[in-house]
Amino acid sequence: MKTGSNKKARIKKIAVLTSGGDAPGMNACIRAVVRTGINYDLEVFGVLRGFEGMIEDEFVLMNASSVANIIHRGGTMLKTARSKSFMTKAGMLAAKENLEYHSIDGVIAIGGDGTFRGAVEFGKICSVPFIGCPGTIDNDLFGTDFTIGYDTAINTVAEAVDRIRDTAESHGRVFFVEVMGRDAGLIALRSGIASGAEAILIPETPTKLDELIEHLSKGRKDKSSKIVIIAEGDEAGGAFTIAGKVKKKIPSLDIRVTVLGHIQRGGNPSAMDRVNASRIGFASVEALLHGKKNVMTGIVDKKIAFTPFQKAVKHILKPDETLLRMIDILAK
Ligand code: F6P
Repeated sequence: MKTGSNKKARIKKIAVLTSGGDAPGMNACIRAVVRTGINYDLEVFGVLRGFEGMIEDEFVLMNASSVANIIHRGGTMLKTARSKSFMTKAGMLAAKENLEYHSIDGVIAIGGDGTFRGAVEFGKICSVPFIGCPGTIDNDLFGTDFTIGYDTAINTVAEAVDRIRDTAESHGRVFFVEVMGRDAGLIALRSGIASGAEAILIPETPTKLDELIEHLSKGRKDKSSKIVIIAEGDEAGGAFTIAGKVKKKIPSLDIRVTVLGHIQRGGNPSAMDRVNASRIGFASVEALLHGKKNVMTGIVDKKIAFTPFQKAVKHILKPDETLLRMIDILAK
């Protein structure tokens, strides 16, 4: 059954793409965009490999069946890329030409801050409206409580750390586990709390190695294992560097290091990511039809919210003091 109407809108053809690092839930978002577009009698094109495909003219007409059986799958069926060509004038002009050739009236771009920064630059030479959907495991965008992929990623980390805890406990070892997040510590923060980590090191708070060393040497005597979660962007260095410094100061510690890497980006999206991605994709198509442009669709306090791209990319995490205090108390 058709719902809503597209009578007033001049939008007839839209394109959807995924760009930057893939994130679980991107497929659920693509599905929502395609099926919502079809509901409003739009022609929906998928652009392969993000902005790279826009430059290389990789536009594929989609229908309801194109997005069957993908809501539960990780990765992105449209493929993705970190396009260097899109940062050049020639690349942008080629992308503009292809949008015009296909008579695209609006673009839905699913990605992170690089994607939205690219869209802002592109907006200076091309008037086709863009709506962004926050798709990144890092959760480092302003204007949404959770980005698509973040919930799945922190669950993946928590599950991995549970496994590490089993072996750490058996051997009485200290593990330094490095997680992704680029410059942001949000993956480390939440997954660290969820896995009961003894310490969490994030770039948003100063990392004092002497305090960490004291904490690890003076902790409860009956604790046989300890887990330190380190955000990859921490200013004190990566997990190997920090572990090396700790080992020098406390040679008696039996230390191991695990860098979780790209397993954090894969896997079936959690129910929360699927629901958020569906809501965001659906709202993004309606936003285009209502004349919105150059904004990111997010969810703030359970409600859909729109934030201009320029503001969305300026995310600075102000760590919640109560949360930090709680982490210290619960790690004792
Ligand atoms: O932005 C997502 C992310 O996974 C970051 O956490 C990480 O720093 C980066 O991408 C890795 O990028 P790539 O897969 O291109 O090496």
